[in-house]
Amino acid sequence: MSPTRTLPTTPPALSVAITEGLTLSEARAAAEPAGASPSPSRDEYADMPPSAEQVIAWDQQNILQTYARLPVVMERGEGALLWDVNDKRYIDLESGGRAGNALGHAHPKIAQALADQARKLLYLSNDFYNPHAAKLAHELAATTNCTRVFFQNSGAEANECAIKLARKYAKREHGASCVEIVTAVNSFHGRTLGALTATGQPKYQEGYEPLPGGFTYVPFNDVAALEAAVGLQTAALMFEPILGESGCYPATKEFLQAARRICDERDIPLLLDEVQTGYGRTGKFWAYEHYGIEPDVVTLAKAMGGGLPMGACFATEAVASAFAPGDHGCTFGGNPASAATALAALEVMREESLVEESARKGDRLLSLLEEMDRRHGLFSEIRGEGLMVGVDLKEPLAREVMLAALDAGLVISASGPHTLRLLPALVIPDALLEEAVSILETVILQQVQQAPQKGAH
Ligand SMILES: Cc1ncc(COP(=O)(O)O)c(C=O)c1O
Repeated sequence: MSPTRTLPTTPPALSVAITEGLTLSEARAAAEPAGASPSPSRDEYADMPPSAEQVIAWDQQNILQTYARLPVVMERGEGALLWDVNDKRYIDLESGGRAGNALGHAHPKIAQALADQARKLLYLSNDFYNPHAAKLAHELAATTNCTRVFFQNSGAEANECAIKLARKYAKREHGASCVEIVTAVNSFHGRTLGALTATGQPKYQEGYEPLPGGFTYVPFNDVAALEAAVGLQTAALMFEPILGESGCYPATKEFLQAARRICDERDIPLLLDEVQTGYGRTGKFWAYEHYGIEPDVVTLAKAMGGGLPMGACFATEAVASAFAPGDHGCTFGGNPASAATALAALEVMREESLVEESARKGDRLLSLLEEMDRRHGLFSEIRGEGLMVGVDLKEPLAREVMLAALDAGLVISASGPHTLRLLPALVIPDALLEEAVSILETVILQQVQQAPQKGAH
């Protein structure tokens, strides 16, 4: 069916009201006096916010259809709440989706930092020193043994940097044939070709061959398989401390400690992908802190940008020394706007004790889910650390539950047929967490009751 091309039905004054900082619904109210029947010319429509139907039509017509989007057009957010263009309220247990904005929507301090920087300097190439990036690197270096950082725009890019750096280091130390990176089955490291090949899931790789060589996969948490996979060709081990995309499966202490030991014995770097787990998500600043180990290289993205695209690859002095000027680069990496915003986000993390809050609220979330399970016996497993929680439903209803929850004003995600993933913003108030779990309970019960009827059709 060809998409409709209806013009937006919003009046011209609306765009003015919106540029003055009003939300879409406030702007509508301000711009549409009761009884008014606006009839703007075609030109006047040019800078207007389109209707939800128009947005969906344009998207389906002109954007590469790689996302199975949810049937909602969001307009604004505040903390752990979102509102769509029809002013419907949602509790966001996904941090804007995929844990991308862990400090909540429209945090005033973060918004101010971005606005201030936008008026001064948005972009400057990495040929110049950058005060915001330098300060951010200095502040972040205090959180980890990996005190050298390279800034990028995304998690996949951060992992590309980690893979390149590890290979440079291993070749320098052990010879040209030392190139192989061992990663985990069911891991997720991003969509660029290198990160995609590091990702131990054939479903993401199929169709993109030939893939870069030099990756081996071992079952997650299988120490014997890990030991068997490592040889003279091994340049690095690369793991997520908690498999995020696959449904929040934590590494065992035994597994990550074995990985650390193997890397020490062979003088090869241990790479940890903390793109999703880092920055307070699991109740520690870095998830590796739960394991009594330290990495040689660790990557971060998502939360660190305070909502802007930002990624980073951190390395120890020893491993970082493998890179020389010219060995790696990124036009927008650590640009003044992203770095100034990320600095504000870091201040918010500290001022609001969000790492500790993540641990406390994560415990609360787990106990609310366990109470729900005691009442109804709906789950086969509840797991997680801090505000990174995976819940396995006994029935394969995760997608149905996710869509029904959205309808009921709750944003969650599904990772596979049985698994729900809950990644609330670290700023979520307790009362919203409780309201969210209560909506979830109603929705799951409804879906479970309807399931046999669905099967009957
Ligand atoms: C652990 C992990 N690594 C890497 C990535 C890729 O990050 P990005 O989408 O920013 O490239 C993700 C994204 O979900 C992730 O969860």
